[in-house]
Amino acid sequence: MDQPTASSNDREYHKPVMITEVVEWLSSAANGWIVDGTFGGGGHSRALLDRYPNVRIVGVDRDTDALARGTTSDRLRLVRANYRDLASILGTDGIPAQVDGVLLDLGVSSHQLDETDRGFSYHRSGPLDMRMGADAERTAADIVNTSDEAELARILATYGEERFARRIAHAIVQERPFHDTVSLAASIAEAVPAPARRSGHPARKSFQALRIAVNDELDGLRAVMAEVFGFLNDGGRVVVMSYHSLEDRIVKRAIRDRARGCTCPPDLPICTCGSNPDVRELTRKAVRPSAEEIATNPRSRSAVLRVAEKVDL
Ligand SMILES: C[S@@+](CC[C@H](N)C(=O)[O-])C[C@H]1O[C@@H](n2cnc3c(N)ncnc32)[C@H](O)[C@@H]1O
Repeated sequence: MDQPTASSNDREYHKPVMITEVVEWLSSAANGWIVDGTFGGGGHSRALLDRYPNVRIVGVDRDTDALARGTTSDRLRLVRANYRDLASILGTDGIPAQVDGVLLDLGVSSHQLDETDRGFSYHRSGPLDMRMGADAERTAADIVNTSDEAELARILATYGEERFARRIAHAIVQERPFHDTVSLAASIAEAVPAPARRSGHPARKSFQALRIAVNDELDGLRAVMAEVFGFLNDGGRVVVMSYHSLEDRIVKRAIRDRARGCTCPPDLPICTCGSNPDVRELTRKAVRPSAEEIATNPRSRSAVLRVAEKVDL
């Protein structure tokens, strides 16, 4: 018999995005094993456990906080790890080597954003930390206070797509050291030309960039997408929700490359490599949240969901 899977506190932790869609896309795994690689507040896992009485879930998160919240079930195993290390999680400790579904709901949870001592928010004063888990080697303060100006500008431009990256990096280097979020945010705001300060918070993109760099998010995503199909049984599905174009580009490319199969150069008139695609893209057009969901959960606004299925060759 399952223990209760939710407490009133859990409901505050993070409002799961596109929960109905996620549960439906993973219906093919109803009698098998699913890895929830970004367990967070456990909202998606809980919905899957409730809807599919035979499903078993491995909940993975790099944040100890997320796993210590008391969401339990005898069909749920929790593992503190980075999802990029799936190879070391699967096939151990009673968890099968091949699974039927993998869910990745990328980025940070509302809980992480709201906890001032985690340092993710530019609105509230907190230490410049931004580590999702203790496995991240550097804090945001380490990056801000020790990177040279060119490296800082590169981080802000690449991971934040910040057009004023060089001006901001210059200002940071002049004014550092920084130890808390709001003083860094204020300095960034000052560095941005006045007209550009009107569209959203001027530190938003820089904070996104620092968070991605601290947690090595894009390399982790590339790594898991390169391996994930190898861990799926035939008919198994991977469901990924991205929250910005940098993530979605990686997911889309990984799925399309694998679904194309053929590795011949594009200018070759006929295929000579003979490699057969073993993956089918189920969402040619990415799935987005409904207007109703966006109205009740504004954080869902930027979500983009993609699904791919391992096929039987
Ligand atoms: C958007 S939240 C997930 C919310 C969750 N789906 C729910 O319903 O509550 C993302 C979670 O993924 C975790 N996370 C992000 N990157 C990770 C990684 N590389 N490995 C493991 N966990 C990661 C974060 O710590 C955070 O708790």
